[in-house]
Amino acid sequence: MVATPSKPKHEVKDLALASVGKQRIEWAGREMPVLKQIRERFAQEKPFTGVRLVACSHITTETANLAIALQAGGADALLIASNPLSTQDDVAACLVAEYGIPVFAIKGEDNETYHRHVQIALDHKPNIIIDDGSDVVATMVQERQHQIEDIIGTTEETTTGIVRLRAMFNDGVLSFPAMNVNDAETKHFFDNRYGTGQSTLDGIIRATNVLLAGKTVVVAGYGWCGKGVAMRAKGLGANVIVTEINPVRAIEAKMDGFRVMPMIEAAPQGDLFITLTGNKHVIRPEHFEVMKNGAMVSNSGHFDLEIDLKSLKETATEAKEVRNFTEEYKMPNGKTIVVLGEGRLINLAAAEGHPSAVMDMSFANQALACEYLVKNKGKLEPKVHSIPEEIDQNIAALKLKGMGVEIDTLTEDQVKYINSWNEGT
Ligand code: ADE
Repeated sequence: MVATPSKPKHEVKDLALASVGKQRIEWAGREMPVLKQIRERFAQEKPFTGVRLVACSHITTETANLAIALQAGGADALLIASNPLSTQDDVAACLVAEYGIPVFAIKGEDNETYHRHVQIALDHKPNIIIDDGSDVVATMVQERQHQIEDIIGTTEETTTGIVRLRAMFNDGVLSFPAMNVNDAETKHFFDNRYGTGQSTLDGIIRATNVLLAGKTVVVAGYGWCGKGVAMRAKGLGANVIVTEINPVRAIEAKMDGFRVMPMIEAAPQGDLFITLTGNKHVIRPEHFEVMKNGAMVSNSGHFDLEIDLKSLKETATEAKEVRNFTEEYKMPNGKTIVVLGEGRLINLAAAEGHPSAVMDMSFANQALACEYLVKNKGKLEPKVHSIPEEIDQNIAALKLKGMGVEIDTLTEDQVKYINSWNEGT
């Protein structure tokens, strides 16, 4: 850790990791052609000249590519981690050492450090906040009202953050525009589904090295993330059970071929549990009580409260780490329950988060949402805004081009047909 006593310029694990980080950031960049094009345009047009920007994100090779694009566009950017366990220390080191971007993030930082970094981010006096889970925005609204006058707007990456922003709006405390990156089609169709689907199982496999074929995997929540995880677990040969509270999603899960039941019925059947609901205590004492010996529980939802770990820890008679990111708790009934990644996002704790090819689109949305905020400074209402459709469509078109895929275009006759009503049977 390098820091001057008065005002630290960064807090990373070890600057000597920078060269490894650089190689990995460049490797990820190969799979991010859309963001590359945006970076090249930003470098010419400098849309962020004079803009102080804070990004609270998982500090990964993909986030590094976003930060470099924003810096190329003239942003005075500072980065903090959006989760204590998701930082890639070599990436943090590289951003500081090679790009001069202040980063405050160390893998395994405690909660107190995490919250201190949020304060440091606000000390940067941001004009734009890129948030992932809304911790920086919520802290500013609660503790630093006077800084709101500096804010052009915020962009939010994840479902949980959008839920919080909408709650702020309903409480009348959202006094600046918030761009909803999560709900862009080029974000959630791919990042939430294919990104979470692959990276969650990647994290579980890296943490445990268990075979999923033949296992019963219980997926809690059938939003886009849950859909992706259930699909990929099935592909690996698992028997998948889905739990839901939303009747429509439950029908979807059923018609997608999964068993659907309440958690209390799934609990004694599951070998592996994965929560992705955005809610708290989806797995709690009555479920632990009936689980099989050796059942594994993990979370891929944004916050670490989907599994009631506090009560598990209070009840357990013994706890021991059996592998990295794998802890075994002995219960009074003699069975053990295995907790993966401390109940934090398992895809980022034990693996590397979503692959670059999907983050390309998510972060293209972030970059263009920031540019949109600057271009429309002072003109946008203080509420949660959708990403404009032309931005979403443009990202999709660029991505397809990067993938070398061509698609059809409508003929003149077809355009006429879909814009008319008088041609029927
Ligand atoms: N969220 C999920 N995966 C991620 C990644 N690779 N980088 C940044 N944020 C992410």
